[in-house]
Amino acid sequence: MDMHILLLAIFLSFCVLTTHFCVSNSTSVSLCTQTPYPELCNSLTFNKPQTSLDENLFDFRDTALRVTLAQAENAHKLISTMDIASFNDLGQSAWTDCLELYEDTIYQLNRSITSKNPHSMLDSQTWLSATIANQQACQNGFEEFNLSSHLQTFPFMLSNISKFLSNSLAINKAMISSSSVIDITNIHHNRHLLSDGSPAWLSTGDRKLLQSSSVATAKADIVVAQDGSGNYKTISEALAAISKRKGTKRFVIYVKKGVYKENVEIKKSMKNLMFIGDGIDATIITGNKNVQDGSTTFRSATFAVSGEGFIARGMTFENTAGPQKHQAVALRSGSDFSVFYGCSFKGYQDTLYVYSQRQFYRDCDIYGTLDFIFGDAVAILQNCNIFHRTLGQSKIHSRPILGGHGGNIRGLCS
Ligand SMILES: *[C@@H]1O[C@H](CO)[C@@H](O)[C@H](O)[C@H]1NC(C)=O
Ligand SMILES: *[C@@H]1O[C@H](CO)[C@@H](O)[C@H](O)[C@H]1NC(C)=O
Ligand SMILES: *[C@@H]1O[C@H](CO)[C@@H](O)[C@H](O)[C@H]1NC(C)=O
Ligand SMILES: *[C@@H]1O[C@H](CO)[C@@H](O)[C@H](O)[C@H]1NC(C)=O
Repeated sequence: MDMHILLLAIFLSFCVLTTHFCVSNSTSVSLCTQTPYPELCNSLTFNKPQTSLDENLFDFRDTALRVTLAQAENAHKLISTMDIASFNDLGQSAWTDCLELYEDTIYQLNRSITSKNPHSMLDSQTWLSATIANQQACQNGFEEFNLSSHLQTFPFMLSNISKFLSNSLAINKAMISSSSVIDITNIHHNRHLLSDGSPAWLSTGDRKLLQSSSVATAKADIVVAQDGSGNYKTISEALAAISKRKGTKRFVIYVKKGVYKENVEIKKSMKNLMFIGDGIDATIITGNKNVQDGSTTFRSATFAVSGEGFIARGMTFENTAGPQKHQAVALRSGSDFSVFYGCSFKGYQDTLYVYSQRQFYRDCDIYGTLDFIFGDAVAILQNCNIFHRTLGQSKIHSRPILGGHGGNIRGLCS
């Protein structure tokens, strides 16, 4: 008998006798070849007997995510306890960003682990991408302040956390494409635009709220008005008042016309808020934080939103720092399934930070000078006007409008 056939026969019988182990190992090996750091991936061992190939795949993904979560928790602990007495104010604010970003990474990994529901594999792809955006934003903070040297004293640089995050994303992706459990129609459901052009993930109730501003203002749970005709005079007061709100039902905040000089942050715990204004340039939220004056790009946002399901309609978000101040964000969204409808974003460098997760913009105006739509989100900009502000006499539009890496920004705009 030919030697090769003999070997093949022996190999096959080994696999038949010890099916579980054989399948497990080959599964992990082939998944690992699809990751950017295969050696690190191969070091994830698991021998639990399973009954089907799909379960083996799930199990392997689960192991990879759990190991990555443990790494992230460890990094967070090391960062929170490190001695930052030698850091100046700028270094300390970059450090504060990192702590918050690691907390978010832990949250995104944890929610990616919890379910075996096939649809959640697709959600996980978004959530795991966000962890990589977080990692990048943490490092960027130090680099923007010319403090890259601090990164060498940073414990996470010594660990394998970035590599584990990249591998987790690749393993999840490979799983989606190789698993028979994931129905292709689910993928369509996730990406599809309905006949009215809105994304399939937008609920019927939310679509109704977006159809007319009078419907939304009539449904307002609270009203913010500078002239005292509402429940609160500032947005920050309104948010403080509802911070203990229970449940995740849609909650509508009507912000009457006026110029609100506030830096607003919608935290992760504040889900499904809707802001409805009196229209572009009528309801204006304005600020001027910027990198030159000591904010990280991440923290410079006049309006920042993390809580999922955020909707804004009919308002202007502005950063007036000016072109000489470098990065100065008007709006940052890391809100999954966020929608901005009939809004204006005014700034110079880095106006609209589509930071992470899934986002939809329709009938919006976006103004800026440089890199003014950027980030790592999966964002759709539909029927938006993009205005490239020129600096002084320069009429040459040679500077990039879109910045960022790894994001997926689709524009159907003028
Ligand atoms: C898994 O397969 C690889 C490549 O075939 C092999 O080198 C490795 O020893 C196997 N792992 C175990 C635990 O047997
Ligand atoms: C992960 O999520 C579960 C369920 O929501 C929660 O009980 C647990 O505390 C979370 N773990 C971490 C590390 O966040
Ligand atoms: C960092 O260095 C660059 C180049 O020298 C300089 O333009 C920038 O203003 C510096 N940034 C800060 C925050 O000091
Ligand atoms: C990084 O991963 C490699 C391979 O698993 C391991 O040998 C090394 O000790 C890890 N380094 C740290 C700091 O965890």
